[in-house]
Amino acid sequence: MIIQPKVIIHGGAGSSLHGKGSLDLVRQSLVQILHQIYAQLQVGVSAQEAVVLGCQLLEDDPRFNAGTGSVLQSDGQIRMSAAFMDGAMQRFSGVINVTRIQHPINLAHYLQNSPDRILSDYGASELSRDLQLPVFNPLTEQRLTEWLQDRKDNFARSMANVVAESMEQGRGTIGVVALDTQGKIAAGTSTGGKGFERIGRVSDSATPAGNYANGNAGVSCTGIGEDIIDECLAAKIVIRVTDGLSLVGAMEKSMAEAHQRGRDLGAIALDATGTIVWGKTSEMLLAAYHTGSTIGDTLDNREQSVGKVTG
Ligand code: GLY
Repeated sequence: MIIQPKVIIHGGAGSSLHGKGSLDLVRQSLVQILHQIYAQLQVGVSAQEAVVLGCQLLEDDPRFNAGTGSVLQSDGQIRMSAAFMDGAMQRFSGVINVTRIQHPINLAHYLQNSPDRILSDYGASELSRDLQLPVFNPLTEQRLTEWLQDRKDNFARSMANVVAESMEQGRGTIGVVALDTQGKIAAGTSTGGKGFERIGRVSDSATPAGNYANGNAGVSCTGIGEDIIDECLAAKIVIRVTDGLSLVGAMEKSMAEAHQRGRDLGAIALDATGTIVWGKTSEMLLAAYHTGSTIGDTLDNREQSVGKVTG
């Protein structure tokens, strides 16, 4: 049976963007990427391929903190992390703190079929050499300027900006969760990290706390990695759905717990019935979705901690 595909994507979570202009530009980026992913899902591309394509497009957009436009760490280097999870196989793979490649999601996806499925720094670099991936510099002028300013301020801020623009501190990452015409789910997440972190710090994005899926649901998270790991957020939501809670019920319960513990995070999710849900404790979640009949985003819903769309 062919079912109506669904997709939800995010470009991070954090405090409000400064102007309506910034909001419009982020909205345009997200919606344009959403159209490209959905067009593929409609012609029968798998959720796996749709997630890889969506993550590549988000990694290529210098506005978002993943791939090109990743933030710099305390030593001025860019180290990126990404994860891929195939829901039908319930199989996780990822790379942690990889350097000098354009699409960390490609390595995470490649590792789906490897006996060693999560590689960190040297191992990930060795793999990109083995695969003969071209050396790529993801640094942008904007991120360098931000880092130089923060160095002048002796790195007083705890996090870099969620998107590359003048705004208050935020928590950037990108993610895609898709349901394909065969009813299969996949999830992908990619990040440049928090920015200014210690060398060797591990992001949530390449762990099951930040990215998780099975046959019932898929989730990609954004926000402060340590908060997401403490909540084990993505896996918790998926397991709650697997144990019988509705997706919106699982998101509400998980966000209420996270809120009570003062966490700063957000998550996007969908389930095998095609329900799309998102949640946040941050002020803002930069997410957009396509149901087949509706395209929408979460940018105006600052007050709402959990949202749901069906149909
Ligand atoms: N959620 C991205 C990070 O903290 O690394």
